[in-house]
Amino acid sequence: MVPHKKALITGASSGIGEAFADALAKQGYALVLVARRKDRLKALADRLQRQHAVSIRPLVADLSRLEDIEKIAHHLSDEPADMLINNAGFGTGEAFYVAGMAKHTEMTNVHIGAPTALCRATIPGMRARGYGTIINVASIAAFLSETGSVMYCATKAYLVALSRGLQHELMDRGIRVQALCPGLTVTEFHDSLQNIRPPHTPRFLWRSPEEVVAVSLAALDRGKVVCIPGWENRLAKWLATNPLTSSFFAAAAKKSRLRRHL
Ligand SMILES: NC(=O)c1ccc[n+]([C@@H]2O[C@H](COP(=O)([O-])OP(=O)(O)OC[C@H]3O[C@@H](n4cnc5c(N)ncnc54)[C@H](OP(=O)(O)O)[C@@H]3O)[C@@H](O)[C@H]2O)c1
Repeated sequence: MVPHKKALITGASSGIGEAFADALAKQGYALVLVARRKDRLKALADRLQRQHAVSIRPLVADLSRLEDIEKIAHHLSDEPADMLINNAGFGTGEAFYVAGMAKHTEMTNVHIGAPTALCRATIPGMRARGYGTIINVASIAAFLSETGSVMYCATKAYLVALSRGLQHELMDRGIRVQALCPGLTVTEFHDSLQNIRPPHTPRFLWRSPEEVVAVSLAALDRGKVVCIPGWENRLAKWLATNPLTSSFFAAAAKKSRLRRHL
């Protein structure tokens, strides 16, 4: 039994982060919600407070900026959380050599810098208390590191490797670590990438953020580090990483625009 339940969620202003906020507020967690859009965070905080009578604190931060990452890391050191969800993220449709270094740095800071700093800030407290949960929201793209969205795939692969390593290091300390690897999920993530929304991609490939979050939270107790919601995504991962099928899968995926946006 956790005596005091508090979670910090990055990227909580929409999509999967908002769905985590909903699910955890329902379970009685006090929440710290981090994102750039103040109005969205405030509206969500007001709604959750009204619905679940839990304490919700919005914290505005741009996690592509090192000083904002530091601000949230300090917050976590000063006011420990039982659960950390590194969820903030974004995609681009640009090839590696087209996107500028500023865009690559922005993505590196949001997908690698912030999760690393927040894990580092929160783990000492979790170790001392003997419990804690960390969910790093990666992507099925972590297993599909080839043409198109090279930085997205690479930074998400880092999150899977980070989660695996941390779980190994912390497993005897009562700390659970998960790399959540969703496939296509209906959120604002794809708003600038309209061409892959249904009917351009089959409906069965799409899942709701609520479903993704339910699978993630249910998987925590099973102790599996990598959580891939949806049989179609588990199949894609298997095809992409199996030596017998990986080159065929890579060639097929190269022809498809799908992989650039997962
Ligand atoms: N949707 C999918 O198909 C899919 C598939 C696999 C993995 N994912 C991953 O799931 C995570 C959540 O994405 P989503 O699908 O829920 O998309 P979303 O609705 O666009 O949400 C992204 C969240 O990240 C926040 N964010 C982005 N850049 C940020 C920054 N610089 N600083 C702080 N917050 C930032 C956004 O908040 P603000 O704009 O308010 O800052 C927003 O709350 C991401 O890591 C994404 O890579 C999504």
